[in-house]
Amino acid sequence: MKFTYFGHSCFQLHTQGKILLFDPFISPNPLASAVSLQGIQADYILISHGHSDHIADAVALQRQTGATAVANWEICSWLERQGVERTHPMNTGGKWKFDFGTVAMTSALHSSSFPDGSYAGNPSGFIIANDEGTFYYSGDTALSSEMALLGKRFDINVAALPIGDNFTMDYQDAAYASEMLQCNTVIGTHYDTFGYIEIDKEAARQYFVSQKKTLLLPAIGETIEI
Ligand code: NI
Ligand code: MN
Repeated sequence: MKFTYFGHSCFQLHTQGKILLFDPFISPNPLASAVSLQGIQADYILISHGHSDHIADAVALQRQTGATAVANWEICSWLERQGVERTHPMNTGGKWKFDFGTVAMTSALHSSSFPDGSYAGNPSGFIIANDEGTFYYSGDTALSSEMALLGKRFDINVAALPIGDNFTMDYQDAAYASEMLQCNTVIGTHYDTFGYIEIDKEAARQYFVSQKKTLLLPAIGETIEI
C-alpha cells in the first residue's frame, strides 16, 4: 500500500490498483495551498464524518473523479441531495467487499453534523483489509477502549490516528491507542492545521520512540510506502 498525505486528515491510499481518498479537505486548508485540487485522483472517497474539515471538497472531487463515495447512510444521502450519484452507504460494525478489499466501518468517539448543523449520523473510522495488508483510519476520535477490540479482531499493520489534541486524541493517547490496536506504526493526522491543534512534531516523534513505536509524519504532498 502507498499513502499520500494532503494535510489535516486528507490522504490517499493506493492499493490493488485503486485510489482511495479519505476526508477531502484541501481547498480551505492554508497548509495545503500547494496541492492542486484538479490533480487529485480517486476511485473511492471515504468520509468519516460530516464536519467541514473532513467533507469540504467531497462534492467537487466526486464530480471531478466520478469516484464512489463510501460513508454512513446520512452522509451518502446528503451527497445524493447535492447530485452525487455514486454512493455506497454503510454503518458502524458493517463490512463490504469492494474490488480493492474489504472495508469495515468502525465507531469513533466524536460528534458529527453537516456544515449547516444538521444531523450527519454517527462519526466513524474505516479498516481496509486486503492481501497487501490491513490499514486502520480512526477518523476524529478520543482514545477509546473499542480500539482494544479492533486490535483483537483485525491484524492491523498501520494506523492513521489524530494526534492534534483539543478536538481529538493527542499523540500520547495515539501511542496508547497503538498499544491497544497491536499496531506499532502510526501515521499522525489532524494536527497543525489550526491554532487549536498545533503540536511539537519532534516531541511527538520522540515520545513514540520512547514507547518503542514509530510515528510517521509525511509532508503534505509526500507519498510513503506502508
Ligand atoms: Ni470532527
Ligand atoms: Mn476534524
